[in-house]
Formats: sequence, C-alpha cells, structure tokens
Amino acid sequence: MTKTPTDFAALYTEALTDTTWTVPQNYDACFNWVYDTGRAGMMGLYQKGKEFQWDATTRIDWSQELDEENPQQLPEEMLPIAGMELYQKMPAKEKAACRKHFQAWQLSQFMQGEQGALICAAKIVTQVPDIDSKFYASTQVIDEARHVESYRLLLSKFGIAYRMTPPLQQLIDQTLRDSRWDMTYLGMQVVIEGLALAAFQTTRDYAQNPLAQQVNAYVMQDESRHVAFGRLALRDYYPQLTQKERDEREEFLIEACYLMRDRFEAREVWETLGLPVQECVDFQYSSPLMKTFRNGLFMRIVPIVKDIGLWGDKVRKGYEEMGVLEYANTDVEALQKNDDTIARELDARRAHVRKTMEAGIAAAE
Ligand SMILES: [Fe+2]
Ligand SMILES: [Fe+2]
Repeated sequence: MTKTPTDFAALYTEALTDTTWTVPQNYDACFNWVYDTGRAGMMGLYQKGKEFQWDATTRIDWSQELDEENPQQLPEEMLPIAGMELYQKMPAKEKAACRKHFQAWQLSQFMQGEQGALICAAKIVTQVPDIDSKFYASTQVIDEARHVESYRLLLSKFGIAYRMTPPLQQLIDQTLRDSRWDMTYLGMQVVIEGLALAAFQTTRDYAQNPLAQQVNAYVMQDESRHVAFGRLALRDYYPQLTQKERDEREEFLIEACYLMRDRFEAREVWETLGLPVQECVDFQYSSPLMKTFRNGLFMRIVPIVKDIGLWGDKVRKGYEEMGVLEYANTDVEALQKNDDTIARELDARRAHVRKTMEAGIAAAE
C-alpha cells in the first residue's frame, strides 16, 4: 500500500537520529538600492522563470503506478551490481528487492539534493549583491520546492527512503558554510545541479515507466534554467577576480568533482540488503560499464566550467585524468533546448490521452 507523505519518517531504512540538520552560517545579507532593470540576459531568464511555473499536483497524474519488480522500469544494466555473479545467482525476488532499493536510494539522493538546492537558492537571494540575480533566484526557490515535492511523492510510492549520503552532505555543508556568494553557485548550481541533470537525464531517457519519465522531464525543464543562471552570474564575475582567487575556486571545484565521482557510492543500499558492501563497491568501480556511466555524469558540468572561465591547468589536468575532458565541447544550449522539447512532448501526450478518453466517454453516453 502506498504510504501517505505524512508518515515519511517511517519510510527511512534506518530510524532517523535527528529530524533536522543545521549548518552554521556566516555571511552578510545584502540589500541593493539601485532598482534598475539589470542585465538583459538575467531579466530574460527571470521572465521565463515566472512564465514556466507549474503545479506538481496537476501537471502530473499521480494515480499512475510503479512496477512491482522494477519500479521505474529501468534497464537491468543500470543496476551497479547487475554484472556480479552474486547478483546473477539471486532468486528473482531478491533481484527485485535490489532494483527497488537501489532506485529508491538514487531518488532519495535526488530529493535530498533538491532540498539542498532549495536552501542554496534562498541563500543566493539573501547574499548576492545584484538585484536581477535576486529576482531570478527567487523563482528558483519555488522551483526547488516543487522538485522536493515531486520526488517526495514519487518516493512515497516506493515505500522506502534513504538519508542523504555522507559525501553529498559534506559537499552541501562546505558550499553553505562558505561566506563568498559565488561559492554557493559553484558548489550547487555548477557541481551538484550539473551532476543531477545528467542523472535525471538517464532516468528520463531510459525509464519505461511514464510517471518516472514525467517527474524527471519536468524537473529537468526547470534545471536547465538554473544551470543557465549559474553560467550567466559566474561568467560575468570570474574575470573580475585575481588569478589567486580563481585558483582557489578551481581547487574547490576539482575536489568537489573527485568527491562526487569517487565517493558517491550506494553503500547504504548494499548494507541494508545484507550484501558484502566492499565487494559491491569495488565491483562498481572496476566495471567498465559503470565507469562509462559515471563519466557520463560529468557531461553537463565540464562545458559550464570551461564557459565560466575556470579553465586553468589544475582543472584541465583533473578532467583529463578523470577521462571527461572531451565533454568540454558539449553543446549545452542544444541539450537545454532538447530538455524543454521533451517536457512539452510529454505534456502534449498527456493532453492527447485525456482528449481521447473524454471522446470515448462522450461516445459511450
Ligand atoms: Fe531542482
Ligand atoms: Fe535546480
């Protein structure tokens, strides 16, 4: 039975020790007395932010169900341990449990990360000096609340939730504690949202389950605006910094990328399922298929990093070592346009189904 969102705490695989997490802050709230309309690009984005608001409770038909055996109907190879003998020998029921738990873990990280984005967007509103950026970021705040809401509803259908994984929590903590306003953009808008976009894309493009497709496609439609926002703000700001200040940003950036690549493991899943944790993690890191998949997560980050001008030796060397340097030439705008098109197509499909059903009912009457 689907649990109602009110007993969400009961969905966690381990009992919560705390129901809240507080991160100390040390930054100034900044007012701006000049109410000029601001940069055209930023105001255009703000306009879009206002126009493209949507309601998760009406745009998505939440009566749609997930699959019992494979909730989002994802290809088997997307399960990190699918290639392990241990998994292949499992009875069908245990395999289904692995799929369900891994997908719930991944969605939990999406949902937890979205709350991180919600709080970071609010921090940007308060701290950023430019009024046009404050305007835009305020639309992002409501977007992120809607994303938390959407993933929460999807996750409730699983009946399982996982807490925020420690490496993600570490990166969000670092991002929030930093008192320099651009670091919130760098940690959240560039690294975490960049990774999330690539991960959402995989689910959107490979999941056969319509509900999972819709949630990811609609969230992505908003996220591409968020990435554009980070790009616009930082592209203007970084050339004004000294080389030393830019070097500090590059160091933070590349460390954050390594952290997310090397430590974003599904340890908690293997633990919960009683599987040999280290063996599963090692397999995930040595499997060529998983390596390709992990590298793909950087497809959306690398071109942005290049574009905002954090493209010194350290970053380039790091990305080369990680095997993701080639993504520098990705056409981000084309990807964003495609994100928008896919979301609109799903809307059109739903409208078509509704119309056909209404016509059917009318004909029967
Ligand atoms: Fe989001
Ligand atoms: Fe976002």
